[in-house]
Amino acid sequence: ETGAFTYDPGFTSTASCSSAITFIDGGKGQLMHRGYSIEDLAEKSDFMEVCYLLLHGELPSHAQKAEFEQAITYHTMLHEQMLYFFRGFRRDAHPMAVMVGAVGALSAFYHDSTDITDPHQRMVASHRLIAKMPTIAAMAYKFSVGQPFIYPRNDLSYAENFLYMTFAVPAEEYKVSPTLARAMDKIFILHADHEQNASTSTVRIAGSSGANPFACIAAGIASLWGPAHGGANQAVLEMLQEIGHKDRIPEFLERAKDKNDPFRLMGFGHRVYKNYDPRAAVLRNSAHEVLDELGKRDDPLLDLAMELERIALEDEYFVSKNLFPNVDFYSGIILKAMGFPSSMFTVLFALARTVGWVAQWKEMIEDPGQKISRPRQLYTGYGPRDYVPMDQRD
Ligand code: SDX
Repeated sequence: ETGAFTYDPGFTSTASCSSAITFIDGGKGQLMHRGYSIEDLAEKSDFMEVCYLLLHGELPSHAQKAEFEQAITYHTMLHEQMLYFFRGFRRDAHPMAVMVGAVGALSAFYHDSTDITDPHQRMVASHRLIAKMPTIAAMAYKFSVGQPFIYPRNDLSYAENFLYMTFAVPAEEYKVSPTLARAMDKIFILHADHEQNASTSTVRIAGSSGANPFACIAAGIASLWGPAHGGANQAVLEMLQEIGHKDRIPEFLERAKDKNDPFRLMGFGHRVYKNYDPRAAVLRNSAHEVLDELGKRDDPLLDLAMELERIALEDEYFVSKNLFPNVDFYSGIILKAMGFPSSMFTVLFALARTVGWVAQWKEMIEDPGQKISRPRQLYTGYGPRDYVPMDQRD
């Protein structure tokens, strides 16, 4: 039961918080959500069930899952006034800029679920955020390609609805592919939560001041956007396209080792994993299956990525520094094959990570001992000195 699991954290008391949601053993390459391995959840569960697990701590009964899915389904629409908000952006705005803005604006439209002291409002805000992210993400895509917004449908699953809102057009019927929906659902599961990463810590710090949940999630989206974090999936694809051919791999590996060269092997390395990121392993294994089913098995990017991984994992520099592929290394290849532009990759990461951010925010708010976050610093500036009037300065 909770609390009975003991382990050696492997670090001194630098922990920013305690949490019962996600466990990572970076040395072993182990990831669990509420005690269930990511491999089991990716293979046997679905995203709505993982959302329930992250929020409530247990796998749902049949009735609990049906009730949760209905609660999410009935929050998928956006306030109609928000469509005007979207139309204020330039068409070429990065979809992450649109998502940060739109999610931050939700508190202006749903102020009846911003009182964090009210358990009912916290639950409604949680459902609204999980439910509306696919709608916002799809709208950001539609707006960027100049197509009309497609409203959500209540007869589709979470992943099916997102694909429908993203790729359907009014001019013709859109049949959601079960293969695409299953791949999308698995990608959402693999990105759902990951302990105290930069964006989750951002959400916790913002939430610790009592800020409303919509504003806190918008802060998390902003942090995730960085190329060292969630923006890496877009950067990996751009890197593979720049490398272009396996003959150029050694040249780029040498650049990655050169401290004077800003180039980093995107999708490699991790602050915690000093072993293979288990999520990358699941994505690598399913990449072939998804590309086969999409009729894109001959995608040269997957072969290039696998050759890059093979050569890097035989290179002393990467082996000695425990640099392995992370979750971002293969995800973009699958997403590109599914039809998403690379500018949407981090948006999909944010969509999936919203349940993790919300679960961690809720866990913090409901902790009776919770206080505002206030990191301290090591001061390296001047000691006390007298003011110098302007006419006495050089
Ligand atoms: C995510 O925290 C999370 O949980 C994040 C995440 C989540 O689910 O929320 O898992 C998602 O953000 C995954 C990471 C995605 N980012 C990338 O793929 C960008 C490329 N990776 C690097 O920028 C880097 O690996 C970081 C930012 C992820 C970590 O950088 P650190 O903290 O420097 O890693 P480290 O301390 O393990 O580095 C050890 C050494 C360093 O060199 P030295 O100082 O020892 O000489 O390895 C070097 C680093 O400079 N190094 C790399 C490298 N990553 C680290 N060298 C070349 N290429 C790389 N990718």
